[in-house]
Order: sequence, then C-alpha cells, then structure tokens
Amino acid sequence: MNIKIKRISTKEALLVRAPVLRKNQPPEWASMEEDKLPSTIHFGGFLSNNIVGTATVYPENRSNNQNEWRLRGMAVLDKYQSNGIGEILLNSCFDFIKSKNGKSLWCNARIGAVKFYKKCGFSICSKKFNIINIGAHFRMEKSL
Ligand SMILES: CC(C)(COP(=O)(O)OP(=O)(O)OC[C@H]1O[C@@H](n2cnc3c(N)ncnc32)[C@H](O)[C@@H]1OP(=O)(O)O)[C@@H](O)C(=O)NCCC(=O)NCCS
Repeated sequence: MNIKIKRISTKEALLVRAPVLRKNQPPEWASMEEDKLPSTIHFGGFLSNNIVGTATVYPENRSNNQNEWRLRGMAVLDKYQSNGIGEILLNSCFDFIKSKNGKSLWCNARIGAVKFYKKCGFSICSKKFNIINIGAHFRMEKSL
C-alpha cells in the first residue's frame, strides 16, 4: 500500500474519526476541545488522495512529567485496518514529537486497540477504567 502521511485540518481528521470512533453516535461527538489549541497537530494517511486514517497529538504533561504529549483520535477506516497504516501514522507522530523535544507519548487506549499500541512500543501504565459512551480503556505510554 502506497500510503502518504500529511498534516491535515481538524475538518479532515473528523472525516475519519466520526465513522470509526463514534459509530452510531452523533458525528459531532468526534470533536474535542483540544482541536482548537494552536499546539494540536493532526496527521492524515492518504491512499490515492483519499484520507483513510488519522492521528492527533498535542502537549499534555501528567503530574510532574515534562515534555509529554498525548495521542487522541487514532483511527483508520474499517476497510483499511490491519494494513500497517496505523503504525505508519504513529511513526509520523513519534518523529514530529521528537523534533519538538518531546520525551514521551501517552493515550487512553480502547481495549480493542491495546494489541496495536503494544506492537507500536507502548506499554500499559494504569488499571482498566471506563470512559462513558465508549467503554473500557487502559492508559498506555511510550518513551521517545
Ligand atoms: C487501532 C487502529 C488505529 C490501528 O490501525 P491499523 O492501520 O489497523 O493498524 P496496523 O495495521 O498498523 O496494526 C494492526 C494491528 O493492530 C491490531 N488491529 C488492527 N485492526 C484490528 C482489528 N480490526 N481487529 C483486531 N485487531 C486489529 C492488530 O494487533 C494488528 O496487528 P496484526 O495485523 O499483526 O494482527 C485501527 O485498527 C482502528 O482505527 N481501530 C478502530 C478504532 C480504535 O480502536 N482506535 C483506537 C482508539 S484508542
């Protein structure tokens, strides 16, 4: 698959986030407050100029940690999943964050995505917890 990664707008990220992450829910639930921050960066994965995947990152420290970034809105359209696109998107996030001197990346991972994040070098760093309207999650982190 010839996947191209580009920086994209919030509007473009929502084209993938809504159908993948907010199935059977109002599409506006795929938006988040942090989309408005100037430090928020969205990446898009494209196949023949069509967007098929997205990932969003922004700086968010936990407790006293410094230079940490958070991953949100990680999604690949259903029919393109398991082709390595998610991993390529994450690698672009890692490179970008490292270029900003970021030291780690963390996320709240849906249970179904834990295996994917482990494959990409993340480890679980919390007990299981619930996020309303979405379900069970683990917090996961990766040093960069
Ligand atoms: C999680 C997700 C972003 C990964 O992107 P991807 O392009 O499918 O990932 P990759 O092809 O790089 O990696 C695939 C690995 O992730 C897991 N995976 C991906 N799609 C899967 C699916 N439909 N069912 C089960 N596992 C899946 C598997 O471990 C797979 O590894 P394998 O191919 O060696 O078995 C994508 O599958 C997705 O959008 N899933 C639904 C939304 C979601 O859960 N997002 C994360 C929210 S925290």
